[in-house]
Amino acid sequence: KENKLWGGRFEESVTDVVERFTESISFDKVLYKHDIMGSRAHASMLAKQGLMSASDRDSILKGLDEIERRIEKGEFVWRTDREDVHMNIEAALIDMIGEPAKKLHTARSRNDQVLTDFRLWCRDAIDSVVERVKHLQVALVKLALKNEGLIVPGYTHLQRAQPVLLQHLLLAFVEQLERDAGRLLDCRVRLNFCPLGACALAGTGLPIDRFMTSEALGFTAPMRNSIDAVSDRDFVLEFLSANSIIAIHLSRLGEEWVLWASEEFGFITPSDSVSTGSSIMPQKKNPDPMELVRGKSARVVGDLVTLLTLCKGLPLAYNRDLQEDKEPVFDSVKTILGMLEVSAEFAQNITFNQDRIKKALPAGYLDATTLADYLGVPFRTSHDIVGRSVALCDSKNCQLRDLSLDELKSINPMFDKDVYDYLGVENSIEKFCSYGSTGSSCVADQLSYWTAKLEIS
Ligand code: ARG
Repeated sequence: KENKLWGGRFEESVTDVVERFTESISFDKVLYKHDIMGSRAHASMLAKQGLMSASDRDSILKGLDEIERRIEKGEFVWRTDREDVHMNIEAALIDMIGEPAKKLHTARSRNDQVLTDFRLWCRDAIDSVVERVKHLQVALVKLALKNEGLIVPGYTHLQRAQPVLLQHLLLAFVEQLERDAGRLLDCRVRLNFCPLGACALAGTGLPIDRFMTSEALGFTAPMRNSIDAVSDRDFVLEFLSANSIIAIHLSRLGEEWVLWASEEFGFITPSDSVSTGSSIMPQKKNPDPMELVRGKSARVVGDLVTLLTLCKGLPLAYNRDLQEDKEPVFDSVKTILGMLEVSAEFAQNITFNQDRIKKALPAGYLDATTLADYLGVPFRTSHDIVGRSVALCDSKNCQLRDLSLDELKSINPMFDKDVYDYLGVENSIEKFCSYGSTGSSCVADQLSYWTAKLEIS
């Protein structure tokens, strides 16, 4: 067996069982690009500070290029006995270029190295998630544009409440997603500080320049406290919290569309290309992608809970437990990217069943609140009057607008013939005209805000 990079004080090598249990190369190899980036910056800094010769630096840089090339070509052999991505690359570099490579780990520990890699990886991951969030926003706005003027019942308690424009409803999801992207970008600002040079935990006596490596890697600044630098995992907790909120939002969108696709609602028809069938019931067409969006939100939340639980009660500074921080993050990112992508795909492949929705609109007295606003008496009083009007409709099995003026006047003499301008869903919806409401001009304002912001032509 090869001597470990840390093997000096050891007389025996670890057992196979321990080696298999403690390795992380099987999953942390995805950090290779960022690990190499970090090593390039570190080597250049060491040379600049006189801690390594320029020619050693050059052979290291050349060696790293070659290793990167081999990894990308699939020619690099990842070795479990070399534990993790950091030691795999370093040991391979020593195999390849010999002595100069042994200087690379000067003023560096795997503890600050792994966090440098991980922060860089998360920074890129955040950018990818934000991009997918935008993509879904665009899909939802386009869906709204395709369905101008369509009124749908709005619900509270899943009971019919007031009429809303479909566009208004879709833009509610766009707003949620905007805050989701904002949370990710806030997190990105906070995580963009550089741990490199914190070494094991105490920093170093060697004359390194942490500002130089930080800048070379695109960080805002080096982290101020070396102990914090190697202990902190709140950047991933924050990232996974933001992902979890996105997942919850998408699960609500999923639930909405699954309901709407049901026979009972029948508001949307997903195209065959985003539906799946049943192995036993020949007639079935199921909205599986959105059910799975709802389902996969559990994983994303689970990943966050894993990480919270992992960090709970850990003493400063690095503890090996922390190696368990990676898989939940990788899983969370992969899952949320998939959820965002498929939600956009679904949005592009549904049609709203206008006739069916229109037929369903008269039910549920969606215009009752508008009628209450009409009377111009104290709201509690008009609430009562309209309540009694609804009761009358119930007994006659009709809509509010079917009541004659005499019938209305029998409930309250203040009703006049202009009342019919307030009744019926189409009239009612136009009364919602204060800022942020569902009336068509307010919704048009929202739409033009989003088409400009998302650059939709
Ligand atoms: N593979 C390790 C991790 O991901 C790297 C840091 C190891 N440090 C140590 N002192 N054993 O956490």
